Amino acid sequence: MIVARTRTSLHEARATLPGPVGVVPTMGALHEGHLALLRAARRRDRSVVATLFVNRTQFNDSSDYAAYPRDEAADLAAFQACGVDLVFAPSIEEMYPDGFGTRIDPGPIGADLEGARRPGHFSGVATVVAKLFNLTRPTRAYLGQKDWQQTRVIARLVEDLNLPVKLVIVPTVRAHDGLALSSRNVRLSPDQRRAATALWRGLELAASAWDDDERSPAALADLVRVTVQAQPLATIGYAEVRHALTLEQVAVADPPLVIAVAAEVGGVGLIDNVVIGEGLMEDGSL
Ligand code: PAJ
Repeated sequence: MIVARTRTSLHEARATLPGPVGVVPTMGALHEGHLALLRAARRRDRSVVATLFVNRTQFNDSSDYAAYPRDEAADLAAFQACGVDLVFAPSIEEMYPDGFGTRIDPGPIGADLEGARRPGHFSGVATVVAKLFNLTRPTRAYLGQKDWQQTRVIARLVEDLNLPVKLVIVPTVRAHDGLALSSRNVRLSPDQRRAATALWRGLELAASAWDDDERSPAALADLVRVTVQAQPLATIGYAEVRHALTLEQVAVADPPLVIAVAAEVGGVGLIDNVVIGEGLMEDGSL
């Protein structure tokens, strides 16, 4: 496994990789969710590139950036164990040298939900992902369903800027209690962690109400909201039923839909979602 820290060494190492090339962008603090993306890439592509960069510009909250878990040695060992061929782990200066000025605005798809909760977040994501795609030149990029809005923002970016990469969306990996794995989960106390499982329980209630023919977006969203609000340690951010691809509001719950929830538990921001739509995710991709 080659570890490249500069654009020049990345360029040299990338030129030696046989295609097709899969890229898995990460901010490190790797868990089974990240590993699922790496394994999907390993299965499908001839070479696998992982990126490891805690991207300051997508953190609207500097204390969240400071508290973001970092363990490069463990991350490199996990990449190696997953059969990654090349890791790009640049410094901040390498990604944002003096004079850096361009910011990509993904437009309405990044404006509400997480975009409203975290102003500037998706502009930071879109900008760094465009740079990472240009630097690594992948055939496919692997993204997690857990960050559903992020997958839609990146899909918009790829379409609008004609980036030559295909996206593969990998289903959310969960802990035994249903909590979606997230690098931030390590910051939860045992009580907070129990409270955090309300996000998934709420989503499961909404999904079974859907199975029982509930078609009111407000009623489905309420099931999630009420479940989270029943936890004193959790503060609801939003519970919303949206068109899965455009993220627009819907009057009637017709698939493809996403039921998305965000909450804060002990100052830790958590998100989760379920996607309802035949054929949408059947091979783990859009
Ligand atoms: P990060 O939070 O490290 O996540 C990297 C990738 O892992 C994302 O595509 C995310 O959706 C996926 N992921 C996280 N938890 C998951 C889970 N429980 N199951 C499945 N996939 C999961 O997302 C980012 O980094 C950054 O925004 C990035 C795209 C790297 C740009 O900086």
